Amino acid sequence: MAILVTGSAGRVGSKVVQRLLDEGNLVTGFDLKPSVINHRNYREVVGSFDDRTAAANAVEGTTAILHLGAFMSWLPADAEKLHRANVDGTRVLLEQAARVKPERILFASSGEVYPENVPDYLPVDEEHPLKPRSSYGLTKLLGEEIVRFFERTSGIPATILRFSHTQDAAELLDPSSFFSGPRFFLHAKIRQQENLGNTAAVQRLMAVDDGREALVVSRNENGRPFKMHITDTRDMIDGILLALKSPKAAGRTYNLGATTPVDFAEALPLMAKMTDLPLKTVDLPGSGVYYETSNARIREELGFDPKWTIERMISEAAAARAARAKVA
Ligand SMILES: NC(=O)c1ccc[n+]([C@@H]2O[C@H](COP(=O)([O-])OP(=O)(O)OC[C@H]3O[C@@H](n4cnc5c(N)ncnc54)[C@H](O)[C@@H]3O)[C@@H](O)[C@H]2O)c1
Repeated sequence: MAILVTGSAGRVGSKVVQRLLDEGNLVTGFDLKPSVINHRNYREVVGSFDDRTAAANAVEGTTAILHLGAFMSWLPADAEKLHRANVDGTRVLLEQAARVKPERILFASSGEVYPENVPDYLPVDEEHPLKPRSSYGLTKLLGEEIVRFFERTSGIPATILRFSHTQDAAELLDPSSFFSGPRFFLHAKIRQQENLGNTAAVQRLMAVDDGREALVVSRNENGRPFKMHITDTRDMIDGILLALKSPKAAGRTYNLGATTPVDFAEALPLMAKMTDLPLKTVDLPGSGVYYETSNARIREELGFDPKWTIERMISEAAAARAARAKVA
């Protein structure tokens, strides 16, 4: 197959490209940033999804499109950029795709379309109402609509995968990681909450700060520890490729992620033990993060079988952290 992978410089896209090349496919990458991939069956278009010329070049000769690239931000000031990349970008890309008529389109959506952290019921399944609360979630929902519009009007079968929160195990214990820093590390969390203007949360976090880097068990205002899915990128890639190869996935929408959510009261002590970092517990204002998302549909229909438990991820993360410390 000749496959276009957007977001080819990103966490998920770069590894999907590598797997597809390993399997002998011709692959085109499309991203704002160049990747480091160098392979005789790989070509790359560096540009923005909403740039018609770049998009036309990217779709040329492709038999399948994996639209995995997107801009991710939760800062109110980024709304404009989110709509340009994720809504206009998806429309322009699919207008060009409709010209070349690939056999299949896969779109990376997100649990933010429900959103999972403000659920009407648990576990969140694919029938849950779609009521995003962030600009990012809204752009993913609009992206889904655009994908279905092109499926109806141009007849290209599409699969929507609503991604779980996804990380490389190696970034799990890296305070500079976009995701792990603010989620697990005290100082990065303070900076994030300052940027979001959450003064009460900043005060509670600062109250436990003795100047040393520390891990944080985040809990809600009633002391309920956060709970959410954290899926290893490798499991996500397995799911994406299953959906690409399965005729049954055409026209379907699936939650894609780990089967079991991560309880922060269990995972953070394990992270602290593996790193010797101090562990703080902070009750943050509000209802906090607490959800479980069902991946039953993709397991039952396509045979998805995630393998990376949080314990396995943490042990790999600790080794990666130790290796980084040795180099520094
Ligand atoms: N990682 C997660 O936790 C998570 C959760 C839910 C959904 N998703 C979705 O999964 C997909 C992959 O996520 P990821 O973790 O690999 O993200 P990532 O940020 O690592 O990669 C996204 C890539 O898209 C590129 N990009 C952004 N805007 C662009 C534009 N306008 N034109 C061209 N390229 C652009 C970026 O340069 C980046 O390389 C995204 O669509 C994301 O919205 C991710």
